[in-house]
Amino acid sequence: MPTTVLPPSHPLNSDTSTSWVVSAYRGSQPAVTPVWFMRQAGRSLPEYRALRVGTHMLDACLDPELVAEITLQPVRRHGVDAAIFFSDIVVPLKLAGVAVRIEPGVGPVFDGPVDTPEAVEALVAGHPPQLLDEALAPISEGVRRTVTGLRLLQGGRDPLIGFAGAPFTLAAYLVAGRPSKDHLAARTMIHRHPGHWAALLGWCAAISGRFLRAQVLAGASAVQLFDSWAGSLPAATYVTHVAPASRATFDAVRDLTDDAGRRVPLVHFAVGAGELYPQLDLDVDCVGVDWRTPLDEAALRIGGPSVQGNLDPALLGAPWPVLRDAVDDVLRRGRAASGHVFNLGHGVPPDTDPEVLTRIVDHVHSA
Ligand code: CP3
Repeated sequence: MPTTVLPPSHPLNSDTSTSWVVSAYRGSQPAVTPVWFMRQAGRSLPEYRALRVGTHMLDACLDPELVAEITLQPVRRHGVDAAIFFSDIVVPLKLAGVAVRIEPGVGPVFDGPVDTPEAVEALVAGHPPQLLDEALAPISEGVRRTVTGLRLLQGGRDPLIGFAGAPFTLAAYLVAGRPSKDHLAARTMIHRHPGHWAALLGWCAAISGRFLRAQVLAGASAVQLFDSWAGSLPAATYVTHVAPASRATFDAVRDLTDDAGRRVPLVHFAVGAGELYPQLDLDVDCVGVDWRTPLDEAALRIGGPSVQGNLDPALLGAPWPVLRDAVDDVLRRGRAASGHVFNLGHGVPPDTDPEVLTRIVDHVHSA
């Protein structure tokens, strides 16, 4: 595949290439294990809740100044080693013209379900992914402002991680038209209308891929694909009917390299995917592991890539000695992998005491 070298001004060509997070993603064990938390920006922080008063979630995501400030809040407060871009997996759908809103306490809700061949055809024909590129301007601007903020904060050493929703997770929302527990409507479409299913996933991959590419071109130093509902599928179904689209999403940024020819680190995080690891090869640099599979076991199943994770979020409410032992256990098991970035096994729960997160960062850094 021909490569595209990122411009000299890109953080990977100066500040972030030797950062702990990028080094660990690329398979080395820096002296200190780097740490960040999924959903570190957001509802667990009082300064976030104060900023968001009176602004709808999706409006906030399209306000570059607000996005940059929210993304930087946890870096300032906790001293984490990476920022994760504040947005949502449905933002590129909205920018592509799909009617979607986020209902507080519920999640993404669409005007209607995309659960028939006709509905898939209308969605795909009515929303060409190429049209997204110009609409992504507020996202690019949010990334640029965040990178500027990171440079002011600590010389830009810490990378910004870009992200997108994986095709299956997006499709699970689209087919049901709203959040569902078992994703049965999407799982049914796979077998009832396999051709239309493939068309829908291909479209989702094109949308998420463009969202990722815009973030990297604007200054993100790595990308993570959130495959939150992957675990609801049998491994064989995932491999046949979903993995090609997940791979295609990464393909949208695979050609982008730093000036030393190293590609932008790619991270795949699939919840409930322990059984899937031995069968899955998405050609990524790092695999995010949820809280269910011990990291040393996961590293064996995954093979070459580094790992990220995987403190059970349920431990955040435990007394410190219990929590500290659990953090140490994750650190010890993580040494079995080529590289390890400490994280939770899923997002920060809304009611987490932020001081607990800061304490974990300090402990990981001093371990
Ligand atoms: O922190 C917050 O909850 C406030 C902001 C917010 C986000 N998404 C940020 C986000 C809100 C209100 C949403 C809406 C939303 N979208 C929900 C929550 C509904 C609710 O009110 O309880 C959900 C479940 C979605 C869909 C979604 N978004 C999924 C499945 C994922 C993948 C990660 C996961 O949790 O499995 C996202 C990504 C997401 N939403 C991020 C952020 C900041 C990703 C990046 C990160 O790790 O910070």
